Amino acid sequence: SIDQKVNALLSKMTLEEKVGQMNQYNGFWDVTGPTPAEGDAAKKYEHLRKGFVGSMLNVRGVKEVRAVQKIAVEETRLGIPLIIGFDVIHGYKTISPIPLAEAASWDLDAIKKSSEVAALESSVAGINWTFAPMVDISRDARWGRVMEGAGEDTYLGTKIAVARVQGFQGEDLSDKATIVACAKHFAGYGFSESGRDYNTVDVGTSTLNNIIFPPFKASVDAGVRTFMNSFNELNGIPATGNTYLQRDVLKDQWNFNGFVVSDWGSIKEMIAHGHAKDLKQAAEISVNAGSDMDMESYAYVAELSKLVKENKVSEEFIDDAVKRILKVKYELGLFDDPYKYCDEKREKEITGNKAINEAVLDVAKKSIVLLKNEDNVLPLKKNGQKIALIGALAADKTSPLGSWRIAADDNTAVSVLEGMQNYPNNTLTYAKGADVVTGKTEFAFELKINTTDKSEFEEAITIAKQADVVVMVLGEHGFQSGEARSRTNIDLPGVQQELLEAVYAVNKNIVLVLNNGRPLTIPWADKHIPAIVEAWHLGTQSGNAVAQVLYGDYNPSGKLPMTFPRSVGQVPIYYNHKNTGRPTTDNPDIVFWSHYIDESNTPLYPFGHGLSYTSFEYTNLNVSKLSDTEVEVSVKLKNTGKYKGKEVVQLYIRDLFASVTRPVKELKGFKMVELEPNTAKTITLKLTSKELGFFNNKGEFLLEPGDFKVFIGGSSYTALEADFTL
Ligand code: IFM
Repeated sequence: SIDQKVNALLSKMTLEEKVGQMNQYNGFWDVTGPTPAEGDAAKKYEHLRKGFVGSMLNVRGVKEVRAVQKIAVEETRLGIPLIIGFDVIHGYKTISPIPLAEAASWDLDAIKKSSEVAALESSVAGINWTFAPMVDISRDARWGRVMEGAGEDTYLGTKIAVARVQGFQGEDLSDKATIVACAKHFAGYGFSESGRDYNTVDVGTSTLNNIIFPPFKASVDAGVRTFMNSFNELNGIPATGNTYLQRDVLKDQWNFNGFVVSDWGSIKEMIAHGHAKDLKQAAEISVNAGSDMDMESYAYVAELSKLVKENKVSEEFIDDAVKRILKVKYELGLFDDPYKYCDEKREKEITGNKAINEAVLDVAKKSIVLLKNEDNVLPLKKNGQKIALIGALAADKTSPLGSWRIAADDNTAVSVLEGMQNYPNNTLTYAKGADVVTGKTEFAFELKINTTDKSEFEEAITIAKQADVVVMVLGEHGFQSGEARSRTNIDLPGVQQELLEAVYAVNKNIVLVLNNGRPLTIPWADKHIPAIVEAWHLGTQSGNAVAQVLYGDYNPSGKLPMTFPRSVGQVPIYYNHKNTGRPTTDNPDIVFWSHYIDESNTPLYPFGHGLSYTSFEYTNLNVSKLSDTEVEVSVKLKNTGKYKGKEVVQLYIRDLFASVTRPVKELKGFKMVELEPNTAKTITLKLTSKELGFFNNKGEFLLEPGDFKVFIGGSSYTALEADFTL
């Protein structure tokens, strides 16, 4: 068995070789160039040759991977192959929508497929381990990394986490088209204070157990083979050095038998956190807390052997970590054939092939959310229309790739302009309106008018005046969200609001297509612009997906996975909030209730919101109790509009009185239903103790009898409701 093989190999290893397996280096020299002869690169190269490196990240492409693997296999004493990691977050060369966008599809099959093709395309480039999925729940649109997760809701996020793990890992890790997944960042990263990346996290046990942990636990149950810990401290203890998280919860309670990798430099960062006084103590704390592999802190390779000899770290912990790492390498089949991912012919044939592009186009269309469509401005007519397309992002072929798409080449996305050119029976004119220019740093993109020359702005106004319909593509550049891209202002960046208002002044018939990696505050647009389409950063096939939706060749079916605030001051705003002791009141004379004096408590667009070109009607809500722990809910859904369409039927509950207070609404089921016009279907969803219960503050799962409400509808706001008692 694999365990026997692991033990046999372990028994041959020196302490230094064991520690080597726990060491991960970033690709540190150009393998096509000369061997490094001096400095850090030479030292790392020496480590690689001695077998003191267990994994490398950011080495990609068959030629490069083969070169480093060859050193590990042919030059080291034991010939243990490297595991090759890479951030395959939403595609490798061919890019899927950003994960937040994919979450808006609520289509678990399409999401799984997207991870599956990402696994395939990266595996043919020599990669066998992705640092994905990010399963952090987040309620803070200021945090740039919301683009990388599944949004604010634990139930939806948990289902998506499982779909992604299954997509990457498939049924069998030894298959060369599958790669190891990594549930990250354990834990709490999505709750960084004030949405500022890497900031302090302080959350109570109720939030930890009920909101943050479930997608991680479900990933373990789905067989995820690795975890990544996190940059943040959690309640005073850095996640990387947190025994409670890594040993008590993950490895003991949840029985996780894969391995934990640190985040980049997060072992060393415990010094800056004020938790370890030097690198040696940082290594000691992390390994004792259950971090098995050191990504780029150089702490384990430098210090662990000494710490064992000084009895500060038990060799049992080292053995346990190494066994976990070797086990995964055996599961991947790397010992049978270390070059199994290194086949130039496959790399050439599969990279960017038709099937991969079809899969990313499919999920891109499904990720689009129709936020508003007054007077049926959409779908656009296909003949005889004069369409003005405005916005620098409309012609951009890089921005739609979004953040975290390291291996994709710039300028490889289909732009909206190109997508719309596929509908030639209309007259299409294009103007930028404003330039995308680079700001202070390479990542601070801003849309600016050239102050000495406003002709571009005026050109946009001129074409808008002559058009029947104006399509404006506005929002964030792909690099304005992602890691280290927190914002305090989540309006349309730069001069885009001015551009929108200037165009509106000459032509009100505007379709606003948003590009963004997070919810934006667009109250003016919501009030004035008749049609608003949320198109995120949709990846390689972006422009085709947008055009097909605008022209009605795909009827939009996406639903928001994250609340859109009216104002950044409402953040964190989320649908499953608590009621408080002083909840919402309609009485204007009451002052002392939980509210703002300058803004409503309600969002601009709630979680779960999303329209279709057709309309749906919900009737006949029925709730029947099957047992003390099971309830069946059914509802009749009718397509009352003119088009065939898909609806995500959403089921929410509220446990009215509990020993630990429960949210005003919690998503506990959903089903995607497709209906022809004028047809109806009865949808049935079941609630079991898993959905009806919750974790108390001791981390125990309880189902308390009592009164519940159930809500069913097309968003977290529009719903039929009924009561039941358990
Ligand atoms: O996987 C990432 C992580 O999410 C953030 N820091 C760097 C890692 C590896 O690139």
